[in-house]
Amino acid sequence: MTFAAKYGPWALVAGASDGLGAAFATGIAARGVNVVLLSRRQSVLDHVAAEIKSQHAVETRTLAIDLAEPGVASAIAMATGDLEIGFLVYCAGADPNFKPFLANPIEAAEAMVQRNCMVPMQLCHHFAAPMVERGRGGIVIFGSGAGLAGGPNMVAYGASKAFDMVFAEALWAELHDKGVDVLGLILGKTNTPALRQLEYSRGQISSPDDVPPGTAAVDDVIGEAFENLANGPTWMVGEDMRAAVQMMGSLTRNQIVELMKHASAAAMGPAG
Ligand SMILES: NC(=O)c1ccc[n+]([C@@H]2O[C@H](COP(=O)([O-])OP(=O)(O)OC[C@H]3O[C@@H](n4cnc5c(N)ncnc54)[C@H](OP(=O)(O)O)[C@@H]3O)[C@@H](O)[C@H]2O)c1
Repeated sequence: MTFAAKYGPWALVAGASDGLGAAFATGIAARGVNVVLLSRRQSVLDHVAAEIKSQHAVETRTLAIDLAEPGVASAIAMATGDLEIGFLVYCAGADPNFKPFLANPIEAAEAMVQRNCMVPMQLCHHFAAPMVERGRGGIVIFGSGAGLAGGPNMVAYGASKAFDMVFAEALWAELHDKGVDVLGLILGKTNTPALRQLEYSRGQISSPDDVPPGTAAVDDVIGEAFENLANGPTWMVGEDMRAAVQMMGSLTRNQIVELMKHASAAAMGPAG
């Protein structure tokens, strides 16, 4: 079955305006599937949509929505009610902040849980039901190495990513035999605009256009994702992540948290 026959005719990419999400949306379009592009910034979405349409014979729709706001899943369901969505990619989810839990108001953690846990769960419930009825479809949820164990400066973020990983695994267990692919992607540091901005703000790189050291390229990450859509429930992206996970297998949870503490201190950079 072709990609379009399995996952078309429409895909929804949440977090599609730049970096990984834009690259994923472009890859979907290149495979002949129409794309709904969702993020907060309408002008950037318009740019991505124009790029896609200039290169590929597909339709696009843009939705400028803040996924951290309450009630957005219903708004997204309404805005896509006339489309047959066969593929859902939930990419939005990085932490622009990287600060101690108590350094931020509780609303920051609540918004993180809303955007990273509540909304993807609601969207999966909404879009997976018709996928199961059709006996085909796909769901990709972006996770992070930060979700493998707890560490400082990413208390709510890491916990939300642990939720995403286990959620994707469990959903795979229920949907895989019904023809719906579910994949939780576990990423390490990746060269996205969001990461560059964070590292620049912390004085770790001297320009927001510099490539942060030790990062994977967006195209490599997205390439692995497309190659492994049917290899769920969980895909560790990149050799470094796979080696780290193998190493963690020989440690206790407490030892892994100690390691996360050291890694987080190193990641704080001069601004920390
Ligand atoms: N980059 C890394 O090093 C890294 C490492 C591990 C895991 N990951 C995971 O990879 C995914 C993508 O990360 P990223 O670095 O590209 O950063 P990101 O901040 O998640 O940005 C990705 C996209 O999400 C959109 N977005 C962010 N917050 C949103 C919100 N509240 N509502 C709607 N859209 C929103 C952004 O567009 P707008 O600004 O236009 O809204 C952008 O298009 C995340 O899930 C992250 O956890 C990234």
